[in-house]
Amino acid sequence: MARYSDDRVATDVSVTTLPAGYYTDPAWFARETERIFRHLWLFVGRADDVPAPGSYVTRQLAGAQVLIVRDDTGTLRAFHNVCRHRGTLLCSEPSGQVRGLIQCPYHSWTYHLDGRLFRAPHMDKVVGFRTDDWPLREIALEVCAGHVFLHLGDPGQPRMPLAEYLDGVDTRFANWRMGELRTVATRTYHLTANWKLVIANYHECLHCANAHPQLVKLSHPLSGDNEPPHPTWLGASMDLLPGCVTLSTLDQPSRAPLPGLTEAQQRQVYYYAMLPTLLLNPHPDYVVTFALTPIAPDRTDITCHWLMHPDEVARPGFDPTDAVEFWDVTNRQDWRLSDMAQAGIASQGYRPGPYSNREELLVAFDRWVLETVGAP
Ligand code: FES
Ligand SMILES: [Fe+2]
Repeated sequence: MARYSDDRVATDVSVTTLPAGYYTDPAWFARETERIFRHLWLFVGRADDVPAPGSYVTRQLAGAQVLIVRDDTGTLRAFHNVCRHRGTLLCSEPSGQVRGLIQCPYHSWTYHLDGRLFRAPHMDKVVGFRTDDWPLREIALEVCAGHVFLHLGDPGQPRMPLAEYLDGVDTRFANWRMGELRTVATRTYHLTANWKLVIANYHECLHCANAHPQLVKLSHPLSGDNEPPHPTWLGASMDLLPGCVTLSTLDQPSRAPLPGLTEAQQRQVYYYAMLPTLLLNPHPDYVVTFALTPIAPDRTDITCHWLMHPDEVARPGFDPTDAVEFWDVTNRQDWRLSDMAQAGIASQGYRPGPYSNREELLVAFDRWVLETVGAP
């Protein structure tokens, strides 16, 4: 067990958590919305959420109403989910399927799946009106390894190409071939915690012995190995204990490791945060993604996708429950702690407290937030 001794570089007590306002103040949250969520690539889900032409999902993100739809050519597109006539929401369900066209429920302006306006009733006598001039407003969308990212910046605003933003995370996990994996389950959680507390919780396992008795039987909480922080991501890994093949509610889950993983990759679970909204959690035989949706200083929604190999999915009797339940239980333990942290930080008695030397990624994350948003 010597390997897992407390061997990190010492810090000092001047390195503390942030003042309460960073987690509670609507004005600071508005600054984060402007400078982080409307300025950087946001992970919003998986390409197979929208499997066929005409299928769509809607999202509320950083003040935008977003419609993600697969067009007739099979291309994924994102639009502001807002009619060009008088601004009504076009699609009000979280997901659904349209037949070839998107029709506004108010006065039936109708759009092609690529956003072009097809028909606008009662506009033929309006001088100068041309349907070509009123397409849906498009939002930049890119897919990498099946992960869907949006950029909510204005079209004219310079933005870093997604490949540059990923900064090697995609190649680091190339052996998982995530683009080929299938979504086998999703869960959405509603937290009463600030989005930053979710990321902070994800990047330390000092709480694991208290909070996750089922996790520490499979992976030693001090086995964590942190990457040096990158400008757009934080990364860590933890070892599986001898005899454990993955994180599961079963002693011996029957799934094969993903083809292409090295022996070392089959012995670890990885915890990466592609800032600000993707938590990427690759295991030897499956991957969990977490899509964070910050709604208010003290409200965050999180949607998890469990991804598995198509050969496993095709096997008779395929059942992913052990992996889904393992993380559903672990998630609920984590979300409860995040909600409790928010409640304490929002109360009168809170003052910033000193970080442990094992909380180095939290220090790096706080610094990233402050540098990205700028001083108040
Ligand atoms: S607001 Fe959509 S058709 Fe009138
Ligand atoms: Fe946890």
